[in-house]
Amino acid sequence: MSNVLVTGGAGYIGSHACKALKAAGYTPVTFDNLVTGWRDAVKFGPFEEGDLLDRARLDAVFAKYQPIAVMHFAALSQVGESMAEPGKYWRNNVSGSLNLIEAAVDADCLNFVFSSTCATYGDQDNVVLDETSVQQPINAYGASKRAIEDILRDFEASHGLSHVIFRYFNVAGADPEAEVGEYHQPETHLIPLMLDAIDGKRDALTIFGTDYDTPDGTCIRDYVHVCDLVDAHVLGLKWLMDGKESRVFNLGTGAGFSVREVIDHSRDVTNREVPFQIGDRRAGDCTRLVSGSTRAVQELGWKPEKSSLKQMITDAWRWHQTGHYDA
Ligand code: UFG
Repeated sequence: MSNVLVTGGAGYIGSHACKALKAAGYTPVTFDNLVTGWRDAVKFGPFEEGDLLDRARLDAVFAKYQPIAVMHFAALSQVGESMAEPGKYWRNNVSGSLNLIEAAVDADCLNFVFSSTCATYGDQDNVVLDETSVQQPINAYGASKRAIEDILRDFEASHGLSHVIFRYFNVAGADPEAEVGEYHQPETHLIPLMLDAIDGKRDALTIFGTDYDTPDGTCIRDYVHVCDLVDAHVLGLKWLMDGKESRVFNLGTGAGFSVREVIDHSRDVTNREVPFQIGDRRAGDCTRLVSGSTRAVQELGWKPEKSSLKQMITDAWRWHQTGHYDA
């Protein structure tokens, strides 16, 4: 039996991970409270509705499926909201993860893959970040994720919990078969907002600031295709199954694109104009967030083959036009 417990399996990244796990021969068991996830996105294995704050529910799910590993995606992830309501982030993300980690250890499930973020690095403009870069988050979201990384280290020392931590840069794109895709409510991410604006589902995109210290004045981000990202998770799971040591990996491609460059590529891919207006800077935005991916490539054997901007926008556009969730 090769069940993998996937928290947040009804969400954007978790649902793609479930598809990749199934393709790799595992059974993904989704555990999700459906607060930001979608029941329709659970297509590749069993579904267990539940909340990470409900320890008894977690224990029951561990007992039922006896997973060989946990992939932990479930989290609140809006930077702005985390600044307005930090308690919500510390409770859901940190207390929820602590419950999950304790339940895993008590169930003797000692392989843990964790979804962390480049937001743990904070604002280190004009630096290509690697896994040894100092972590100094500037928002409660990033701080909550960094705290969970610390909890994992403590539980490894005390209980032998082996873990792989992935720090994501900007995840984009969708399953090329459009079985699952990106759908947030409310949506705050650049590419889905842009595609909505292109086909008139919402007003013009607002570019958040054109006075940054970058060649065209707009922020630069390192975009990584969600399918490449979840492929890394399957490699991370195999890494743990092979008994290798706990490790942190950045997942980015080392290429940075500005907001204006993303707009230009979207126009080329869709063959449609992108309605946009210039707005003020958004609080909490870093000028430039770009990762080195050497460690994941060299040690995990990760090959981010779909992460060209053109491919990510093409797949996001296909999902936007053909895919949907009903619930
Ligand atoms: N942007 C706009 N207009 C919009 C939306 C975004 O100009 O309507 C810009 C942002 O200012 C930013 C870029 O597009 O420069 C990307 O913004 P996203 O909101 O798509 O992504 P972020 O870089 O803000 O956020 C991502 C992840 C977070 C993570 C964060 C770390 O989605 O989970 O990186 O900084 F915390």
